[in-house]
Formats: sequence, C-alpha cells, structure tokens
Amino acid sequence: MKQMDFRKLRAEMVDRHIAHRGVRSAVVLEAMRVYPPSYALGREAVRDTELGGYHVPRGTPIFISQWVLHRDPETFPDPEAFRPERWLDGLSKRLPRCAYMPFGAGPRKCIGSIFAMIEAPLLLATLAQRYRLRVSVEGGRPLRFLLSVTIRPRDGLRARVEPV
Ligand code: HEM
Repeated sequence: MKQMDFRKLRAEMVDRHIAHRGVRSAVVLEAMRVYPPSYALGREAVRDTELGGYHVPRGTPIFISQWVLHRDPETFPDPEAFRPERWLDGLSKRLPRCAYMPFGAGPRKCIGSIFAMIEAPLLLATLAQRYRLRVSVEGGRPLRFLLSVTIRPRDGLRARVEPV
C-alpha cells in the first residue's frame, strides 16, 4: 500500500484552513468596520494633556467614535463601500494604531476579542454553508440605526432565508 505523506497532507490542510478562514475573517472585520457594534467609547483624562493641539484638562470626559474612525478615507479608501477583500493583503498589520478598534484599545480592550474572532467567522461559515440570506431594505431607504449599548437597525431588518 502506498504510504501517505502526512506532513505534506497536514501542510496542505493548514494552507487551506488559513485561506478559508482569511476570507471569513475578512467579512467579519469589514462588517465591524462599517457597522461597529460598539460605535463609541468613553474615557476620562487622568491628567492634563494635549490631544491634536487641544488642551485637555484632567477629568475631561472623552468620547472616541469607532463609527467615525472606521470611515476615515485616508485609512479606508471608499469608506462606505463594504469590501471584505481590503483585509486580504495584510491591511490589519499596516493600519495606524487605533485606526480600527471594534474591540476598543488599551488596558480595557475587550477581553473576548479573540474568542469573538474565532466564533463569528465560524458561525458565518456554518450559516453560509446551509443558507443564502437576502436582505431587503424597504424602498431602498438607507438603514436607520438605534444607538443602544451596541448599534442595531432601528426598524429591524427583513431578510429572506433560502436553503442552499
Ligand atoms: C463582536 C463581538 C464583540 C465586540 C465588538 C466587543 C466589543 C467590546 C468593546 C468595544 C469593549 C470596550 C473596550 C474598551 O473600553 O476599550 C468591550 C469590553 C469587554 N468585552 Fe467585548 N466585545 C465582543 C465580544 C465579547 C465577548 C465574546 C466577550 C466575553 C466572552 C466579551 C467580554 C468583554 C468584557 C468582559 C469587557 C470589559 C473589559 C474591561 O473593561 O476590562 N466581549 N468589548
């Protein structure tokens, strides 16, 4: 019987896994760029400082909006376009610090970010294998959002679910 080259097989499987997971992760990264579940974060200046030329006294509340950061055309050309492929050539490694932060940043950064980035692409792949989702926004109107703790469609989102 022909001996199987397990090392070669394993290397091929790893390659395929990275390629596939890369695409799924790119879809999740892009979805969180355009519609960051956490659209703004609050911080408080612990000491007097300067930010972008502005004097910020100690105790000042500061709001940082991922919605705004993720739409900076210098960082993300054509920012309103949903383009998962922009993540496929190592964009995350080239981004300026804090230009993209769906999970926040610093010592209070989301403790579940790694878990979420495993779970969400897996869930997406599981659903996409079985169903096609066709989302329809009534009358072609732009989506309206409810700004709660996380962001969500204000009037719900109608979708047709079809088995593949
Ligand atoms: C797509 C999924 C998720 C998003 C977008 C998200 C986003 C965030 C953001 C923006 C923060 C605040 C970070 C900051 O202030 O800098 C946060 C904090 C936190 N998240 Fe998440 N999160 C997600 C999933 C999860 C999951 C799956 C868990 C737990 C298993 C989790 C647990 C936490 C906890 C405990 C904190 C508070 C951390 C602290 O204050 O020290 N998150 N998350």
